[in-house]
Amino acid sequence: MVAEAAAAAGWEVLGFCDDRPDARLPGLDRLGALRSPPPGVVIHLSVGDLHARRALMGLASAFATVVHPSAVVSETAEIGVGVLVGARAVVQGRVQVSDQVILNTGVIIEHDCRIGENTHIAPGAVLGGEVNVGPDVLVGLGSRLLPGVSIGAGATIGGGAVVVRDVPAGQTVIGVPARSV
Ligand SMILES: CC(C)(COP(=O)(O)OP(=O)(O)OC[C@H]1O[C@@H](n2cnc3c(N)ncnc32)[C@H](O)[C@@H]1OP(=O)(O)O)[C@@H](O)C(=O)NCCC(=O)NCCS
Repeated sequence: MVAEAAAAAGWEVLGFCDDRPDARLPGLDRLGALRSPPPGVVIHLSVGDLHARRALMGLASAFATVVHPSAVVSETAEIGVGVLVGARAVVQGRVQVSDQVILNTGVIIEHDCRIGENTHIAPGAVLGGEVNVGPDVLVGLGSRLLPGVSIGAGATIGGGAVVVRDVPAGQTVIGVPARSV
């Protein structure tokens, strides 16, 4: 998915790195293991698991920010390094997106939100205005975060949850309205 987004965005995609020697991706060459990418190339961490992403962040000196051409990104939004903005994502004005964030397919990030480093906003999630999401957070598939809520570092928002109040660091919440589990 990331390779297709990158190609559509005009990157020349040389291939992929994977620790499994027999790993295959249609139309892409395996360039080597994860921790030994070819020198001199720009890489993108196409890994959904947040702990694995964090562990791999020192891998390269240059990371590609990939914005799918069908995404709508405000000119006043700030997008960090190594970020993925997936197909049909919408990022509104004055949003701040830190490095290595995944804004997955079809997410809506309303005005003035702040998204911390290495956070993953899963497909179809919607953030109202002025939502503040810390680093290393998983915001699950199709969840809704009401305007102004804050999500602490390392929290997990379950798929389909509706978050109506702040979520402390490290907590997992599910349901409508979302409650800690
Ligand atoms: C919330 C979550 C982290 C819990 O994971 P888990 O600890 O492995 O939970 P389990 O699958 O063991 O389920 C435990 C219980 O919670 C329920 N549950 C799990 N996720 C739920 C959710 N999102 N909303 C409501 N209930 C949920 C299960 O039905 C189960 O209930 P039961 O004990 O009555 O049978 C996970 O289910 C989730 O929603 N992850 C988000 C995934 C996602 O969006 N990934 C991005 C992909 S791109």
